Amino acid sequence: MPRSTGTYRQQTVGGETIRAFVPHPLPPANPPLVIEGELLDRHVAATIAVERLSVATLTVPSLTWFLYGFVRKEAVISSQIEGTQATLEDVVQFEATQVSDRTDDVEEICNYVAALEYARQELRRPRGLPLSSRLLCRVHERLMRGVRGADRQPGVIRSSQNWIGGTRPGNAAFVPPPPEVVSEALAELDRWIHAPSDLPPLVRAGLAHVQFETIHPFLDGNGRVGRLLVTLLVEYWRLLDNPLLSLSLALKRHRDEYYRRLGAVRTEGDWEGWIAFFLECVKEAADDAVVAAGQVFRLLHSDRAKLVAHTSATVSAIRLLELLPEHPIVSRAMACDLLQASKPTATKAIEVLQDVGILAERTGRQRDQVYGYQRYLKLLSDDTQLTE
Ligand SMILES: Nc1ncnc2c1ncn2[C@@H]1O[C@H](COP(=O)(O)OP(=O)(O)O)[C@@H](O)[C@H]1O
Ligand SMILES: [Mg+2]
Repeated sequence: MPRSTGTYRQQTVGGETIRAFVPHPLPPANPPLVIEGELLDRHVAATIAVERLSVATLTVPSLTWFLYGFVRKEAVISSQIEGTQATLEDVVQFEATQVSDRTDDVEEICNYVAALEYARQELRRPRGLPLSSRLLCRVHERLMRGVRGADRQPGVIRSSQNWIGGTRPGNAAFVPPPPEVVSEALAELDRWIHAPSDLPPLVRAGLAHVQFETIHPFLDGNGRVGRLLVTLLVEYWRLLDNPLLSLSLALKRHRDEYYRRLGAVRTEGDWEGWIAFFLECVKEAADDAVVAAGQVFRLLHSDRAKLVAHTSATVSAIRLLELLPEHPIVSRAMACDLLQASKPTATKAIEVLQDVGILAERTGRQRDQVYGYQRYLKLLSDDTQLTE
């Protein structure tokens, strides 16, 4: 006998009768979700992987180097899951030059980074907002800022019926709750997040995500805000001290299963299946992050050694190399700013880094040239190319 997962409300939308789904509040009940057997094995494996990532971050010489790339990579992929057409290189290029031929998409990704930073700051601030739907509305407001967001009601909980898949609610794959119950459903989710629970935090983060997606409180951006919620919960529940778990890549790799599993929670009460899938993605993401961290640091280490050994290495060139992980694409003007140095000094630093094969000119132009730390960008950009 499958669990009851919620109730359906008949609605009339555009003359058609539809059934909107109102989920029961968390946690899953009758029977309750129990972490045992294979689920327990997966939980142990995911927890160990996250702990290994946590240890890896303690051993890296500079966490900010690391975070720059990780946060942007997560932003790019989380946005790509639902069709944003921009790559990590587009974003980095835009940050360096303020120019892009995909401005709208790049802006969405920059908004994602800003929204995450805003939320983390708020959570750290003694009198900041708690982790709650109010905070998520503010996050949404930042995510949807700008040209394209205007008709998507940034920061506002929807007041109309939405749907997923299909061209109208009548032929949709899923019709989320009617607008009048959304606020209460979110308030229930807030209460559950802050209530004591016997379930382990990783499992709870997975449950919070599916519940958030089922409520689908916004007109757009629900996937991204729901994935940000996981990032924030992982930090809030002290699994990691930083937003280094980039779950979106695993979710993107298994996107069909991701959507199917979200749906099966509602249609079959299959929380176990969702959590098993979610934990597998957590493990994959944590393992990936450990490998990526190793690669980044080996590259930086060997490039530094190469540079120091180079006969014409200057102090400014070494300093510039250390700034590159957070600014992997630079112009000459930017290098002057970063180094707080004169144009000849910055130019010389760039030339040395070019000679050693660390920086490469990207534009082929004679003026307004832009230089990229190509091998580093390539490492970060793995899996972020547009495939569809
Ligand atoms: N069957 C489903 N049930 C619940 N949520 C789903 C289902 N299928 C997809 N989703 C979620 O909906 C998200 C898309 O919603 P949307 O508001 O367009 O978010 P975004 O614009 O951030 O991608 C997906 O990324 C996924 O998280
Ligand atoms: Mg969308």
